[in-house]
Amino acid sequence: MSPIAPPRGTRDLLPDEAPAWQWLHGLHATVASRFGYQLIDTPVFESTELFARGVGGGTDIVDKEMYTFVDRGDRSLTLRPEGTAPVVRAVLGAHLEQRSRPVRVHYAMPMFRYDRPQAGRHRQFAQVGVECIGERDPCYDAEVIEVAWRFITDLRIEGLDLQINTLGDREDRLRYREALVAYYTPLRDSLCDDCRRRLDVNPLRLLDCKRDAAHVASAPRIGDHLGADSRTYFASVLEHLDAAGIQYTLNARLVRGLDYYAHTAFEFWHSSLEGAQNALGGGGRYDGLAEELGFAPAPGVGYALGVERLLRVATDQGVAPGPQPPAQVVICTTGDGSGTDARDLARRLRHRTSVITDLTTRKLDRKLRDASRLGARLVLLIGLDEGLVLRNLDTREQRVVTTESAPDAVSEALLAAAQEPAG
Ligand code: HAM
Repeated sequence: MSPIAPPRGTRDLLPDEAPAWQWLHGLHATVASRFGYQLIDTPVFESTELFARGVGGGTDIVDKEMYTFVDRGDRSLTLRPEGTAPVVRAVLGAHLEQRSRPVRVHYAMPMFRYDRPQAGRHRQFAQVGVECIGERDPCYDAEVIEVAWRFITDLRIEGLDLQINTLGDREDRLRYREALVAYYTPLRDSLCDDCRRRLDVNPLRLLDCKRDAAHVASAPRIGDHLGADSRTYFASVLEHLDAAGIQYTLNARLVRGLDYYAHTAFEFWHSSLEGAQNALGGGGRYDGLAEELGFAPAPGVGYALGVERLLRVATDQGVAPGPQPPAQVVICTTGDGSGTDARDLARRLRHRTSVITDLTTRKLDRKLRDASRLGARLVLLIGLDEGLVLRNLDTREQRVVTTESAPDAVSEALLAAAQEPAG
């Protein structure tokens, strides 16, 4: 029988990668909370309708990438492919916007998309993000961009490129839609199957096509179909970004792949991520989404960043923390050493640091070798003739300590060891 492999497009988070994972999540939560964003979490599965209505039929996510299943109660459910529609549902469903507006929330959640797996593209991946719900003002568009910017800067990732565009309001997009239909209809026979369907169902999504790239390049631009209000709104977002010292690149072709956007749309690109996977994250304003989901109007804006992509860049740039030992100290019984003494000492030391006990009857040199392999810095040997011995695994120095003095001796030795990197 061959061993069972993980499902295609999924990855395990192994202990060596955990410090980088925790570092990234901790930093995002810290930065978001400094801007007043509070943690929110939503179910891993939702009713399929939430995404069909929120993200939109005709998008790749809804048409091709959703993990949809019927449960035993005959309900159609979908594993969450993105976080914005669920978060808006959760916030407005709990009437949080009635307490104070806007509602600022941040999240770190796994997402599921039936994508073709490759570097930077998985079927289960994680996103960190924020949503600012309940107000329509350019200052909030700039604020969420600033949160993402601050976070990526604090990660110390370099080479970031913020691409930004406006998709205008509903009327602008209706005008633009007509222009796209007029442009694409004579080309229908030369279009790929997907695009022929998009032309009928959701013309804006024609611009997501990678195969008909030449047509996309010459297609009309949304910027030529904007009303005065949309222009003023976008100009104000850019002014706020300028005031915050955030650099950006205007990109008239940026349309994002989800239907709920209006006005500001943006992406964070990184040159080290190749091709279609070059976006570390993206976001924008989604003023019509609440109504699509059956709620009273509630404008919003937010972003999501791909955790696996961020970690790849951070690791390549050497800024992510590497593997950490499971414990700093191993307490080993030797000779007549008692397990009870070892456990008591471990309990006291765990107020200060991480401790593993080795109470086995294996030989001392095996125990020392294993403690070294774990990456521990110190061992405490219980049961030697000379008494309780504290040994530094890097320098091999050792000294006798008492049960009472052991905690302070361990703290001092760890401090000294931290100043001298392990050999
Ligand atoms: P999105 O552009 O679909 O936006 O996804 C955001 C980020 O998630 C991408 O830029 C990428 O880093 C990561 N990502 C997407 N698909 C995959 C995948 N298959 N494998 C690995 N990483 C992936 C949204 O999801 C919107 N909800 C963002 C938003 C928040 N808009 C407003 N608020």
